[in-house]
Amino acid sequence: MTKSALQIARAAYQPKLPKALRGSVKVSEGAATQSAADQEAIKKLFPNTYGMPLIQFVEAGETTSCPATNVGVILSGGQAPGGHNVISGLFDGIKKLNKDSKLYGFILGPGGLVDHNYMELTSDIIDEYRNTGGFDIIGSGRTKLETPEQFEKGYEIVKKLGIKALVIIGGDDSNTNACVLAEYYAAKKQGVQVIGCPKTIDGDLKNEMIETSFGFDTACKVYSEVIGNIQRDCNSARKYWHFIKLMGRSASHIALECALQTQPNVCIISEEVEAKDMSLNDVVTYIAQAVANRAAKGNNFGTVLIPEGLVEFIPAVKRLIAELNDFLAANANEFAGIAKANQREYILSKLSKENADIYASLPEGVARQLTLDRDPHGNVQVSLIETEKLLSEMVAGKLTQWKKEGKYNGKFSAQHHFFGYEGRCAAPSNYDADYCYSLGYTASALIANGKTGYMSSVRNTTAPAEEWLAGGVPITMMMNMERRHGEMKPVIRKALVELNGAPFQAFAAKREAWAVNTEYVYPGPIQYFGPSEVCDQPTKTLQLEQNK
Ligand code: FBP
Repeated sequence: MTKSALQIARAAYQPKLPKALRGSVKVSEGAATQSAADQEAIKKLFPNTYGMPLIQFVEAGETTSCPATNVGVILSGGQAPGGHNVISGLFDGIKKLNKDSKLYGFILGPGGLVDHNYMELTSDIIDEYRNTGGFDIIGSGRTKLETPEQFEKGYEIVKKLGIKALVIIGGDDSNTNACVLAEYYAAKKQGVQVIGCPKTIDGDLKNEMIETSFGFDTACKVYSEVIGNIQRDCNSARKYWHFIKLMGRSASHIALECALQTQPNVCIISEEVEAKDMSLNDVVTYIAQAVANRAAKGNNFGTVLIPEGLVEFIPAVKRLIAELNDFLAANANEFAGIAKANQREYILSKLSKENADIYASLPEGVARQLTLDRDPHGNVQVSLIETEKLLSEMVAGKLTQWKKEGKYNGKFSAQHHFFGYEGRCAAPSNYDADYCYSLGYTASALIANGKTGYMSSVRNTTAPAEEWLAGGVPITMMMNMERRHGEMKPVIRKALVELNGAPFQAFAAKREAWAVNTEYVYPGPIQYFGPSEVCDQPTKTLQLEQNK
């Protein structure tokens, strides 16, 4: 592989570890824990892994060694910067405890465990991937580990390789499944520990014990760099409105963090749209008003940030999608026989009055996207809906109408962008490089101490790394019961943007000024070397949440 100069320089970077992990560690146990809600139901489902104490590692002062331990690691779901450092921290941790310990990587996600597709990760391989972005060391996948048959297939290979513990690096669903697996192996006394690590650029796996999911920091910095560049272009040419959609399947944390970093003219937060029961027309009017206000000052340019999951948070559109899902699932063959040119009319004739009115108001392209590309569960794939085009086309329509009515007299020309994949595999920022390495190292300490059903936790990360707190959180502590595919299931509660939280409040206090003035900030590219205030800053979200 030909390496870039940065890759070569980054290979030598030694991630920082919390002080407590630098020598040998001992466990300090807290009180017994409770699940986030539905305690009785969750306790019943997880008799072996419920109620375990919080764990914090403290310096032991004397060196301990462990028997050689074989560990398996799995990358699950969407890529996030820093995954390779979780694996290298885990590798270094188990090797430090015993140089004969081995690390096996399961290939292409949880499916690798079930299909017995694996490789041993030796030091030469690990060294090639230290401080690099991507998950390509072993690949990732979205197979869900949830059935006893899968667990038993996994157990066969785990037994064959002498694996004592599995580390599952994933988001809320993958960590929920990690806990189900931990419970299964514990109930059957199969002697396999399971540890989770919090991953997702979306930033929605967080709670009082998990400050942030890894990858959020780097991804937001990459997107903010590009948004800043667009804003500078926008402020130079002064002729375009840029509609920028940002990844984040449900929660709007990425859009909010990028807004805090770049100060765009408009940023829509899905959670607010839902809380205020806004219609699509309300969202369009809000943006069009910002365009008109700027036009009145002679500024026919601007930026609008849009979270990827927006349409599913607009109650009326959500109802339309639900009716379309049901209708198309029941009438797939008939619909397939309708000529493309007649499909819109056909759908309109089948929908309820309320939903037909909304469907009729959508631009042709978006209306078509809503009827295509169902996922295996029959749901529309919202990430394929070009919300940025939907909004800009509807804003253009509204402005034309306002022009006729004499309420607006500007020029409106739009550009569209979608940033997601551009940031998911970026070289991890110093924050993510250090945080991920510490998460992996912490996982090795949890394994050495015989823990299962825990998520690796590293906290106090707005302080210098040596003051970070490393430990473990029982995964059951983060769970509640939710309806999924018609059944009540135990799941880790997803963290959406809190409208009374400090990050949203900081944004809300400034957005009116940002809308009408041009107060863009240009963060520039991630810096890996240089003054600490340039290259070691955590996200604004985390700083505001921790009152820094
Ligand atoms: P995870 O929740 O698995 O981390 O993935 C999140 C995400 O990056 C979302 O932001 C995005 O909607 C989705 O993955 C895209 O998925 P895919 O990689 O399958 O296209």
